[in-house]
Amino acid sequence: MNIGIVGTGNMGGMLAKAFAEVPDHQVFVYNRHPEKSLHLAQSCPSISVLPSAEAVAQSAEVLFLCTRHDDTVEVMATLLPHLSAHQWVGTTCSSIPLHEWSDESPATFFKCIPSLTQTVRSGSILFTMEPDAPASESCRLANILGGIGMPVRIREDQLRIYSDLTSCGPAFLSQVLLRWAEAAGDTRHITPKVAEDMLVRTLIGTARLLEAGMSLEDIVGHIAVPGGVTARGLESIGDASLQLFRRLHETTMAHQQKAATLSVSEPNA
Ligand SMILES: NC(=O)c1ccc[n+]([C@@H]2O[C@H](COP(=O)([O-])OP(=O)(O)OC[C@H]3O[C@@H](n4cnc5c(N)ncnc54)[C@H](OP(=O)(O)O)[C@@H]3O)[C@@H](O)[C@H]2O)c1
Repeated sequence: MNIGIVGTGNMGGMLAKAFAEVPDHQVFVYNRHPEKSLHLAQSCPSISVLPSAEAVAQSAEVLFLCTRHDDTVEVMATLLPHLSAHQWVGTTCSSIPLHEWSDESPATFFKCIPSLTQTVRSGSILFTMEPDAPASESCRLANILGGIGMPVRIREDQLRIYSDLTSCGPAFLSQVLLRWAEAAGDTRHITPKVAEDMLVRTLIGTARLLEAGMSLEDIVGHIAVPGGVTARGLESIGDASLQLFRRLHETTMAHQQKAATLSVSEPNA
């Protein structure tokens, strides 16, 4: 399948590399400053650089616009007249109202919120479609996105909370571990760097336990025997982590609402 990507920054570069690893996919890319896309193509033979966004749109069955909000509006204005009914067109920019495009073009439009975890073809890849999109279209799109991650169709009003968990999630989890390593270093019995190494291995091992079928609750239950040191540690966490994550979600939601009011939205990143 021919995949087109306009804008090869963080998201577009990652999607290009991930799709390029899927057998039988050809990836066509264009970036405003060509150095980024040329560098990307050097890293992978199934990525080709084309001279314009229009050329990418003409070559792609599935097209991803991975530019920031204002650039996306501008690029799409030039592409809309060239799109056809057999094409899928996605944007990684969550603040774009899809109906403005679908009113103007026969193509099928969707939003796609990737996660850095797709670099290793893992994690959830979110997508939204117009509410009246047929289930068969949703299945076909899920199959395509399923080549690089676990596709999850969500509603527009769920974008923020799902994005916090999947797209921002790796950053939030990493920051929590960095703070934990810092706190471990404060004991003076380990350096923060060594603590970080220990925690990273613990995280990878925990992920493997989950992959092997254990649930998060199983893991807690296996380690925290009543009266033991883990149970005491969990008691010390108490409700603090619940409050921390409630505050986090309130903060990202407030940021998204403010950005929407100002119409300069970059709420995902
Ligand atoms: N970062 C995240 O984790 C994340 C997650 C989910 C969704 N998103 C959303 O995805 C979008 C892209 O985010 P990002 O972090 O990938 O941004 P980014 O790193 O700034 O990448 C945007 C790319 O678009 C290129 N571009 C701009 N205008 C263009 C045009 N007219 N034609 C071709 N290329 C053009 C830029 O090229 P230049 O090199 O010329 O500037 C840049 O390489 C944003 O809307 C963001 O909200 C981001």
